[in-house]
Amino acid sequence: MKMAEQKDKQKSQAKTSTADIKYDYQKLSWKEFFRISKWAIGSLFRVSPVAGVVHIITTTILQYQDLLYSYIMAKLIDALIKIAAAPDKNLDNLYKLIYIVVIAKIIEMLLRIIENTCMVILRVKHRPIIRRSFYLKLKELGLQTLEKPDIHDSIARADNYLTNLLQFYRQNVGFVTEILKLFSLIVIVTKFLPQFTIFLVITYIPYVIFDKYMRKENYKFDWENTEKNRITGSVANSLSNVNALKEIYITNAFGFLDKKYMDFQNWFVEMKLKITAKWRIGSEIFNFLNDLTLIFVGYLKLFTRVVNGLISVGDATFWIQTLSQLSNSLRRVLSNSNDIFENALWFKEAEKLYSMPPAFADGDIVLPVLKSGPSIKIKNLDFTYPNAQNITIKNLTLEIKAGEKIAIVGHNGAGKTTLVRLLSRFYQPSTGIISINDINLKDIQIDSFYKNLGVLFQDYNTYGYLTVEENIHMGKSDQELDEVGIRLAAFSADALNFIEELPNKFDQILTESIKSGIRPSSGQWQKIAMARFFYRDAPLVIFDEPTAAIDPVSEYNIFNKIYEFFKGKTVIIISHRFSTVRNADRIIVMDRGEIVEQGSHKKLMEMGGRYAKMFNLQAEGYK
Ligand SMILES: Nc1ncnc2c1ncn2[C@@H]1O[C@H](COP(=O)(O)OP(=O)(O)OP(=O)(O)O)[C@@H](O)[C@H]1O
Ligand SMILES: [Mg+2]
Repeated sequence: MKMAEQKDKQKSQAKTSTADIKYDYQKLSWKEFFRISKWAIGSLFRVSPVAGVVHIITTTILQYQDLLYSYIMAKLIDALIKIAAAPDKNLDNLYKLIYIVVIAKIIEMLLRIIENTCMVILRVKHRPIIRRSFYLKLKELGLQTLEKPDIHDSIARADNYLTNLLQFYRQNVGFVTEILKLFSLIVIVTKFLPQFTIFLVITYIPYVIFDKYMRKENYKFDWENTEKNRITGSVANSLSNVNALKEIYITNAFGFLDKKYMDFQNWFVEMKLKITAKWRIGSEIFNFLNDLTLIFVGYLKLFTRVVNGLISVGDATFWIQTLSQLSNSLRRVLSNSNDIFENALWFKEAEKLYSMPPAFADGDIVLPVLKSGPSIKIKNLDFTYPNAQNITIKNLTLEIKAGEKIAIVGHNGAGKTTLVRLLSRFYQPSTGIISINDINLKDIQIDSFYKNLGVLFQDYNTYGYLTVEENIHMGKSDQELDEVGIRLAAFSADALNFIEELPNKFDQILTESIKSGIRPSSGQWQKIAMARFFYRDAPLVIFDEPTAAIDPVSEYNIFNKIYEFFKGKTVIIISHRFSTVRNADRIIVMDRGEIVEQGSHKKLMEMGGRYAKMFNLQAEGYK
């Protein structure tokens, strides 16, 4: 019974999640549309308000050039017919009109130069500004939000925003100015040939409905395949990444991944082609029907008037052009409105991301820069990852004294790194409190906390495009570069010897992909990263597996220095190498998110529990 209930629950959950997705791709009210357009255009406008305004004005004026030229052309033809019929060939009238054309062309040229310049300014300026706003937003959202898979889909969709913002802006400006022109044309044509306007509007209705339907199909298809596209994107990245290719060559896995990529792409492209072909063919048929209206309702009526002598030949040419301008303008307005609506749906994702609040609010207590290591109190801490089912940290309580040197050991997946992430306040624990010097971490302003924190993560950063010196200086880059400090840090991390042997020593670039660069070995990289945190010399230092890739001699040297170097500071070291942790003031043994043993090496060995067992097992291996 219970099982059935659970299944039902899962089913209904699945239903709600698809319903949510449907909601997102189907619904966009006019109100939302205006809000999104205002937001997107506003963000581009802020790049250069002057260029934006001038661009809109010039585009609006230029919309009317066709109408103006057809009018002048009509006058020219009538003038020509008159001259041809008159006995004295007086060309004055003709010249006057040609002067007007030349002046209009000069004005047009100037306006186009201004319009294009404004566009170039917006195009060149907006990219870095918008890209920056994107990564600033991601930073603000924080890891707890960014690690949710849905957010990755959202980011992938919102990425469209970065590439299509300018196009969206142009579409909007084009759309508004086109509407102005359309209204002027409707007024002019309706006065002259009202039945034409009515026919035209009626025949366009099925086209609009069809176009809207096809767009929805297309959008729905893209939406539903965002995650699959992301996955195959990652496959393609592996196949074009020099580092990843090494293992792929050896394992002969190229074919396997290539197939994974192409299987999806073949299917995706085929489906996309089907949708697009249906869409294009349908659109062309509707366009043809509208052309028939133009010919049978527009031209025929017009020619009858010419034949009956109601209008001149010049006027007829003006009206022929004006009628097709109206037809084209209506087509553009309708298809552009659908285009804009479709784009706005993607922009909705970007707007959603930009207006998303961070997973949790920043605290407001400013922690001063501490002279010595802080105390840490962790009480009844529970934590489950945003996308995980099982709890990772369970009711964990731990007190670390100011200046204490703690080591944490435990098998893979015990939750050691997770604890470090919680101490770094990447996540908000579900229950429990972490306090630093008796202040709840939640209430501390995060930047002021980070000024007191140094964490060498298990997956530490390597800045290959920077020099050795810069890589170490990154630990304290908000302060002036201290060469002596950098050398001391390198020495403490047992990195000085190999740095001195590099062709460019501390100025060495650390990637083979840049000329004059070299690639350090894995252990050398780890030493440079360690040096960065020696240099940072924060009151609270955490090293997560700092010597995993480091040889035993260097490891011995580093650990001899670490406790001395960070005297008075609070230090947490996570390691699988028991020989390195035995000198810590206290060793914490973690298992399945809980602390199962703690004490000094001596005490734990005497206890003969888990630690002693693991220690002896490792020692056995060295005999
Ligand atoms: N971002 C994440 N989202 C979901 N689950 C995660 C995430 N990171 C880690 N986990 C899970 O949390 C558990 C604890 O992982 P953690 O990285 O803290 O282990 P660890 O003790 O540091 O292990 P190791 O010794 O291998 O470094 C693991 O079961 C892991 O699968
Ligand atoms: Mg870990």
